[in-house]
Amino acid sequence: MRKKIVAGNWKMNNDSQQTKVLLDEILAKKPGSTPVKIVVAPTFVNLQAAVNQTNGSNIIVAAQNMHQAESGAYTGEVSVGMLKSINVNTVILGHSERRAYFGETNSLLAEKVNTALKHNLTVIFCFGEELADRQSSNHFNVVESQLREGLFHITESDWQNIVLAYEPVWAIGTGETATPEQAQEMHAFIRNLLRENVGEAIAGQTSILYGGSVKPDNASEIFSKPDVDGGLIGGASLKADDFLAIVNGMK
Ligand code: PGA
Repeated sequence: MRKKIVAGNWKMNNDSQQTKVLLDEILAKKPGSTPVKIVVAPTFVNLQAAVNQTNGSNIIVAAQNMHQAESGAYTGEVSVGMLKSINVNTVILGHSERRAYFGETNSLLAEKVNTALKHNLTVIFCFGEELADRQSSNHFNVVESQLREGLFHITESDWQNIVLAYEPVWAIGTGETATPEQAQEMHAFIRNLLRENVGEAIAGQTSILYGGSVKPDNASEIFSKPDVDGGLIGGASLKADDFLAIVNGMK
């Protein structure tokens, strides 16, 4: 069964007090029982507090990144063991901002994926084309190589710990959203790639999230598409009401 997931990527927003307030609001207002897995990804410095604050709730706290090495002389970096030691068991990898501003390539991401999976983390693996790729009708090729080079090397059992997040770069933080039809078209393409490369069972079980300017007013239409299993939400996840309206848009 594919899981329904709505994940908030808070990026470099919210100091410790703001993190606490936003989590309090989400905890107070979230539906008591929902089939949707709710994930929030605060910055590294606020992870420990967020884990403590959400203890006993069904909210999952994720990191936005991690280093590929297990430890060592990598000033300023955070390792998988550090995340695990504070009960963070989910990590977002390959976000387009990491790819664009921090030089993360498909092969580097393959290393990060390996390290995360070796330690049993769940990976939310992000990928998606830039505007020029879509304008030149190269978007399917770009997405296929991001998946082949970053992910398709993993073993069959590792796929249990993978969530895919298709995020067209031209739709991230721009207010421009892929139409529900564009999202469905790409999600169906991705699921078909999984079917051909890793088999029917994994294709049927892997959740594929859409990200890129998902808001309360467009979420339910995007989420209604058969191959869209949820969303990765940036801007709109910073307001509890908007984030939870998006969660409620996932039926
Ligand atoms: P956005 O960001 O919702 O602000 O477009 C999405 C993301 O970066 O995951």
